[in-house]
Parts: sequence; structure tokens; C-alpha cells
Amino acid sequence: METIRTIMEHRSIRKYKSDPIPEGIMQEILEAGTRASNTGNMQVYSIIVTQSPEVKEQLAPCHFNQPMVKEAPAVLTFCADLNRFSQWCQQRQAKPGYDNLLWFCNGTIDAMLAAQNVCIAAEAHGLGICYLGTTLYTASRVVEVLRLPKGVMPITTVTVGYPAEQPLLTDRLPLRGIVHSERYDNYSTTDIDQIYAAKEQLPLTQRLLAENDKQTLAQIFTDKRYPHADNLAFSRSLIEVLEQQGFMNHDE
Ligand SMILES: Cc1cc2nc3c(=O)[nH]c(=O)nc-3n(C[C@H](O)[C@H](O)[C@H](O)COP(=O)(O)O)c2cc1C
Repeated sequence: METIRTIMEHRSIRKYKSDPIPEGIMQEILEAGTRASNTGNMQVYSIIVTQSPEVKEQLAPCHFNQPMVKEAPAVLTFCADLNRFSQWCQQRQAKPGYDNLLWFCNGTIDAMLAAQNVCIAAEAHGLGICYLGTTLYTASRVVEVLRLPKGVMPITTVTVGYPAEQPLLTDRLPLRGIVHSERYDNYSTTDIDQIYAAKEQLPLTQRLLAENDKQTLAQIFTDKRYPHADNLAFSRSLIEVLEQQGFMNHDE
């Protein structure tokens, strides 16, 4: 029940106290990350713990200078890692075949499951967390800063520290908008209207509409926050990094 309460009380924390995270707690939350389910129990992921001001300084631009990167005592970068497992195979007369999209996806799943376990464990200790999706947007720079070898791809970053704010819980779509019974039940226009109605009526939405001079909340996502041209540009650079890091060999 304690775990469910922790999960239900989650909110992203974007302001942190400068108090360090005690080493024992850090070890425990990282250990909790490694207890997550993972592909074939191969654990094809790595976690880079950044606590030094110098490396945080270098990481900050990778995250579009979101202040949490320098403010939080710890910045964790979760990576898909086929390097370690492939090295082991090579040292044990086994030929690794993990230089492809399937294993990038498997590594990504492992990295994200470990990340979420770390987040829940951190929150259970009264720490606050915030995911940073910017890791994928600037992956080539993250690879340089963290010196990630071939076979390793940064997937997501989580800032961790004691909260210096207590934001309200954010909204979620109603369960019936997310869950399908037995098979996928495609949405009618009325379903869409109903599922998004509460979100569209929030005071926050009204404020965003006024601030952004838009007619609908959806337009704020498509035109302001995640516009198509940006998505294409970031996708192209992501494919380049995947090639560079050795995940796009589909010819042999
Ligand atoms: C993959 C991913 C990337 C995210 N990237 C960012 C980010 O770059 N900056 C940020 O402030 N929040 C980021 N978030 C946090 C989300 O904005 C947040 O989880 C969402 O708005 C719901 O709010 P809550 O976490 O407080 O419930 C990210 C979350 C996820 C899962």
C-alpha cells in the first residue's frame, strides 16, 4: 500500500534544495533500479550518475539549460547499453548480434524500467525527481560529454534531490480513455471530446490559451511545444547518432 501511495503522489520536482543525497540512500535507489525486469536478465542498460559541478555544467546545454540540471544534487542518465554485454560475449567465444534496431529498443525498455524503479524508490525516500526528455534531442552532445562508447545510447535523464517546492498533482486522462477491453476500440469524435473535456476546462489550460494566443490546447502542442519541423530535425539527428553508436546495421 505504501508503494501505491508513493506512486499516486508523484509530481515532477523542478526546484531542489542543495542538500546532498546521502550515499546509502543513493546506493539503495540505484539498487532498486537494477531490480527492475529486464530483457533476458542481460541488463542491457547503464546508469551514469553525475554529481560534480563540472560535468553538470557540461550537461546543462544538452538539456536546453533547464535549471534542474545544475540545481539538483544528482543527474542520472539512463542509457541503452549493448556494449558491456557484447564485450562479455566476445570474451567468452560468443558472437554478439546486437548492433540493430531491435536491440536498441530492448536496451531502451531496460533503461526506462530501471529509471522508473529508481524514481519510485527515490520518491519513497522523500526525494523529488524530474525526467528530462531533452536527452534524446541532443543525444550526440550527451554521447560526447559522458564519453559513451559505441553500443551505448543515452535514453533519458532524471534529476534527483530533496524538493524545494510542492506542486499540485497534475491531471490525467480518465482511465476509460486509456484502457481498452479485450481489443482496441477506436475513438469516435464524441469519445475524444469526452476524454479530453476535463483537461480542456482546467484553469491552467485557459491560462495557456491566453498566453499563447491559440484557440485550442491541441494547437499549443502541435504549433508551440512539439512542432513538426522540430520533430523532423530531432529525428534526423537521432538516426545519425543511432548509426554512429552502432544500432543501425540491418544488412548482414
Ligand atoms: C520521457 C519524459 C520526458 C520529460 N521531459 C521533461 C523535460 O525535459 N522537462 C521537464 O520539466 N519535464 C519533463 N518531463 C516531465 C513531464 O512534463 C511530467 O511528467 C508531466 O507533465 C506530468 O507531470 P507530473 O510528472 O508532475 O505528474 C518529462 C517526462 C517524461 C516521462
